[in-house]
Amino acid sequence: MEQRSDFYSLGIDELNKRYQELQEKYNEYKSQDLKLDMSRGKPCPEQLELSMEMLDVLKSDERLAAVDGSDCRNYGGVDGIPEAKELFSQMLEVSTKEIIIGGNSSLNMMHDTLARAMLFGISEGELPWSELPKIKFLCPSPGYDRHFAICELFNIEMITIEMKHDGPDMDTVEMLVSEDDSIKGIWCVPKYSNPDGITYSDETVDRLASMNPKARDFKIFWDNAYIIHHLTNKPDQLKNILNACKAAGNPNRVYMFSSTSKITFPGSGVAMLASSEENLNFMKKQIAVQTIGPDKINQLRHVRFLKNIDNLKLYMERQAAIIKPKFDLVLDYLESDLGGKNIAVWNKPNGGYFISLNILDGCAKSVVKMAAEIGVTLTNAGATYPYGNDPRDRNIRIAPTFPSINELKIAIDVLCVCVQLVSIKKILDNR
Ligand SMILES: Cc1ncc(COP(=O)(O)O)c(C=O)c1O
Repeated sequence: MEQRSDFYSLGIDELNKRYQELQEKYNEYKSQDLKLDMSRGKPCPEQLELSMEMLDVLKSDERLAAVDGSDCRNYGGVDGIPEAKELFSQMLEVSTKEIIIGGNSSLNMMHDTLARAMLFGISEGELPWSELPKIKFLCPSPGYDRHFAICELFNIEMITIEMKHDGPDMDTVEMLVSEDDSIKGIWCVPKYSNPDGITYSDETVDRLASMNPKARDFKIFWDNAYIIHHLTNKPDQLKNILNACKAAGNPNRVYMFSSTSKITFPGSGVAMLASSEENLNFMKKQIAVQTIGPDKINQLRHVRFLKNIDNLKLYMERQAAIIKPKFDLVLDYLESDLGGKNIAVWNKPNGGYFISLNILDGCAKSVVKMAAEIGVTLTNAGATYPYGNDPRDRNIRIAPTFPSINELKIAIDVLCVCVQLVSIKKILDNR
């Protein structure tokens, strides 16, 4: 019998035989006392090595002055040093007046942006969102679990929106926002989305920029975490949403976020927020109360190391050279072990940090549990959906970057064994 054949076309005896073979393989792995982690999108040590020279670009015998002469060792410059604005505004394709360079985490900036909207409203004269009886956010899913965690923390009701091949289901988004003024925002990871690896189409960007929400203080939280994180030399193109919002007459609609977490050092990188000048001016007054200024030495170190946008792009090619083989390996395994069996579909991303695997309905939790029981940690099933609830219990997020190639081979093989075991069981139970 051909090993790739559709599981649904196999008889009970053949399915039982395969189940037994796979179970033996599973038991064999069980005896190996594995400890492998494919749960979080972290750079591997080799990627981090690429940035070690950044620690040497600042010297103790020089005055650490920014291009405007300000001393980076001292207080001040609440919105970042000019050369960091220059570099990262080019990365985000905005003007230097439309960007704030912050601290070490874009998630922190997203959290604080939402916290300020809750406490003070999004502009002069708008009600703080926390004073309203109910606030809702649209959550294209599968999506980034930490966005959903922020909503949970602030008691913001989340509405799951289906992700299509070109972004969120815009028919549903437009319909919902036009009817309900308690819907104040939408989370978007528009490029190489976490976890689907999808890049929003121009049409999706234009529709988001030009739609007519009932809430006039509706905001798009545009988390462009993977903006230059390409895996191929034919990168996806993403339309600039700030320009699209301006063109549609809604210049204040979007907050864009990014960081160097997956460029240099996660946790010790530089984060940024871009938006209209009007939005930034409003926010800067509040940020200036929260902090006297960000870590300008780290900003300076980053700019001196990354130099300019062309060099940054070249540097990202070196990152890609390290992780692309890992993505290829996972994709090869998925194809050879799950392909043609009618039990799984997955994406082949051109960038980002994840591969999103959809298996048979009702199987994801069991697969993640089975893998965990023999020492392979995957992202919790359901984590990619609001409230940790994947309504079809079928999505598994694979994060291939951190493990070594050898570890990854075992981890992905274990995953494929578990997916097949759980799928066969489901098919047999339904016969
Ligand atoms: C979509 C997305 N946004 C933000 C982050 C975190 O960014 P930062 O380290 O800048 O807080 C991650 C990390 O995995 C991510 O996947």
